[in-house]
Amino acid sequence: MSEQTTFVAGAAPGAVPIVGHALQMMRNPVNFMTSLSAHGDLVQIRIGPTTAYVPTHPDLLRYVLTNDRIFDKGGVFYDRARDIAGNGLVTCPFADHRRQRRLMQSAFTRGQLKRYAAAMHAEIEDTASRWHDGMVVDAFQEMYGMALRTVGRTLYSTPVSPELTAKVERSFDVVLNGLFRQMFLPGVIRRLPLPSNRRYQSNLEFLHETTQELIKDYRNDGVEHDDLLAALLASRDDDGGRLDDREIHDQVITVMAAGTETVAGTLTWVFYLLSQHPEIEAALYEEIDTVLDGRAPEWDDLPNLSLADRIISEALRLHPPAWLFTRLTASETELAGRQLPAGTTVVFSPAAVAQYDDAFDNPAKFDPDRWLPDRVSPSARQAFMPFGTGARKCIGDLYARTEATLGLATILGRWRVTPEPDMDIRPVPLATVYHPRRLRLKLSARTPHPVASAVPAPTGGDAI
Ligand code: HEM
Repeated sequence: MSEQTTFVAGAAPGAVPIVGHALQMMRNPVNFMTSLSAHGDLVQIRIGPTTAYVPTHPDLLRYVLTNDRIFDKGGVFYDRARDIAGNGLVTCPFADHRRQRRLMQSAFTRGQLKRYAAAMHAEIEDTASRWHDGMVVDAFQEMYGMALRTVGRTLYSTPVSPELTAKVERSFDVVLNGLFRQMFLPGVIRRLPLPSNRRYQSNLEFLHETTQELIKDYRNDGVEHDDLLAALLASRDDDGGRLDDREIHDQVITVMAAGTETVAGTLTWVFYLLSQHPEIEAALYEEIDTVLDGRAPEWDDLPNLSLADRIISEALRLHPPAWLFTRLTASETELAGRQLPAGTTVVFSPAAVAQYDDAFDNPAKFDPDRWLPDRVSPSARQAFMPFGTGARKCIGDLYARTEATLGLATILGRWRVTPEPDMDIRPVPLATVYHPRRLRLKLSARTPHPVASAVPAPTGGDAI
C-alpha cells in the first residue's frame, strides 16, 4: 500500500530488560496505549521477549483489521486464548473464519436478540432483587456475576441446579483469571505441576466436560429449545453444512468468555464515570424515570434510552474493556513504510486510537453527547473501535449494548448508587478487560420521579 508511506513509524521509549513494556502496560493499559501516538502512527513496543507493533492512527488500525488474511489471529493473546476457546469464532484463523461466522450469525440476529433480551432482563432483575437498601456491593464482582449468569441463561435456558451454576461460575473465574497469568508465562513454567497450573487445568477440564454434557442433552432430549445453544445447533449454511459438536463446544465457551468480563467491565466503568459527573448522572436518572415510570425496561424501550446508550459508548471509548489483542502477519508485508517479516506481532488496542486528537474535541473528557447524531463526526466514528472492525468485528456488539442498557436502566431505576470513599481506580488488568482496583457502591432504594410532561402521571409507589 503505497499511501502508507505517509504514516510515520516510531518506537516507544522505556523498554526494560526481559519484560520490555509489559509492566507499564499492566500498570495502566489505557494510559500506556494512549501515550504511544506521541511516537508515531505505528509504534514498536516489547511485550516480554516479543517485539510488537501498535497502530495508533485510526486509518492504519482499520487497514490492519480489514486485512485479516495478512494480519491473521495469532500472537501471545490468541495462543493462550485457544487453551480455553479452542478454535471458536474469536480465536480461529482466517482459513476457518468465514464459514464459522456464517454459521454463528443466525444466533445473533435482531430477532434472536429480542428473545435474549427477556432472559437478560430476568437475570438482571434477579441480581438487583438480591440487594437491599443500604447494602454495599463490589461493582465489578456484582456485574461479573450478573454478566456470567446472563450469558449462561441466554445460551442455555433450561434451568440447572444452583450447585452446578455456582460451580460453573467458580470454574470460569479460575480459568479467566488464570488465562491472564498464562498469557505472560513461558511455556516451561506453564507446564510445571504448580498448584496454580493444576487448578487452572482442572477447572478448564470441568468446563469442557460440562459443556459437552449440555450439548449432548440438547441433542438427545427431543425438546425444542429457544436459546443461543439451540440456534447454534440448528444453524445450517447454504450447502447444508453445520457446526459439529466440537465446534459448538468451542463456540459456547467462546461466547461465555467473550461476553462476561467485557460487559461487567463496561458497566463498572459507567458507574465510576457517572459518579464523577453528577449532572450527567442526574440526566440519566431522569431519562430512566421518564421512559420507564418505575417499571422494568424491555427491548422496545431501548431506542428511548438514548442517553444511556451514549453513556455506554463514551465509557467504551475511554475505558475499552477488550484492550489488547494480537495479530501475526501471515506473510511479509509493509506497514507504515516498515517491512514486517511473516510472523510479526501486531497489536490491536482500541485504546491506542480512542483519543485521537483529530477525531475528538477534548479527547480525554467524558462527554456522552459527543455521540449525538448531529454532533458526531465521521472521523469520530472511524476512531471508535471498541468492538473492532472488518470481518472480525465483535458478533456480540448489539448483545453487549442491549445487556448493558437493560442492566443500567434496571439498576438505576431501582437504586441510587454511590461509590464508597475507599474507591481506588488504579486499573487491575484481566485477560480481556481491566477494572478499577476497588469500587464499592452503596445502594439506596429510590422512588423514580418521571418528568410530568413527558409521561402519564406517575402511578405512585416505589419501583421495588
Ligand atoms: C462491551 C462488551 C464487548 C466488547 C467491548 C467486545 C469487544 C470485542 C472485540 C474488540 C472483538 C474483536 C477482537 C479482534 O479483532 O481480535 C470481539 C470479537 C468477538 N466478540 Fe466481543 N465484545 C463484547 C461483548 C461480546 C459479547 C456479549 C459476545 C457474545 C455474546 C461477544 C462475542 C464475540 C465474538 C464471538 C467475537 C469474534 C468475532 C469474529 O471474529 O468473527 N462479545 N469482541
